[in-house]
Amino acid sequence: MSTFVVVGGAGRTGRRITDRLAKGGHRVIVASRRPEGDETAELDLAGSVDAAVFTGADGIVVAIEPPRDPAEAETVMHHGIARIAAIAAREDIPVVLVSQIYLTRPAEHPEMAERIEARARGEQALRASGAQYTIVRPSWLHDLPADGVRVEQGDTGEGRISRDAVADAVVAALFDPSASGKTFELYDDAESTEPDWSTLFAALSPDPEA
Ligand SMILES: NC(=O)c1ccc[n+]([C@@H]2O[C@H](COP(=O)([O-])OP(=O)(O)OC[C@H]3O[C@@H](n4cnc5c(N)ncnc54)[C@H](OP(=O)(O)O)[C@@H]3O)[C@@H](O)[C@H]2O)c1
Repeated sequence: MSTFVVVGGAGRTGRRITDRLAKGGHRVIVASRRPEGDETAELDLAGSVDAAVFTGADGIVVAIEPPRDPAEAETVMHHGIARIAAIAAREDIPVVLVSQIYLTRPAEHPEMAERIEARARGEQALRASGAQYTIVRPSWLHDLPADGVRVEQGDTGEGRISRDAVADAVVAALFDPSASGKTFELYDDAESTEPDWSTLFAALSPDPEA
């Protein structure tokens, strides 16, 4: 049994990740701004990040929604992620970060460009931290069942992806060293068969050295 901390583990994708890990027999700690119940920890990435939340963890997942306000988005999505990355590097804990598409082309969505830019700085802080990491960039999320996936790199695509499929990818990445040091986008693909994550991860290019 391993122990995982899921930051945003009470959210719609986070809950799916938490459920999968718990069903796999692992201990899961849900880090939330408003923790409820057992196996939860209080964490607000807009404030200080208490390293004790991650003590004893074998893996960290971060799946949080950026604040709308650009300054708050910078605090949470850049500096908050950077703080977690520094703890993960120091304690040698792998991190899977849920990000989004459009990270390299914020001008395509001016209404959220500043949030995307803050998020891009958070991605880069994780890459530069020295922590072992995987960055999963979902396209537009939906709650229908997973129906096959397409994995891409380079952030050029458009589309939608099931939250179930994102959760599957995140959990697979936590256990698969071939996902380490890689960033990829996820899209629904009804044409594809059941994903074989380890083959998909192995085929991806590693990120350039940060
Ligand atoms: N919506 C889309 O189409 C789309 C597309 C691509 C990527 N994404 C990304 O995919 C991820 C999952 O999305 P979702 O819609 O499933 O998420 P969600 O249901 O909106 O949940 C997001 C979680 O973020 C946590 N959070 C927000 N601010 C926080 C803070 N300052 N400190 C700690 N936790 C904070 C919240 O946790 P508490 O309230 O418990 O603190 C919440 O449970 C997010 O990163 C999202 O940005 C979304």
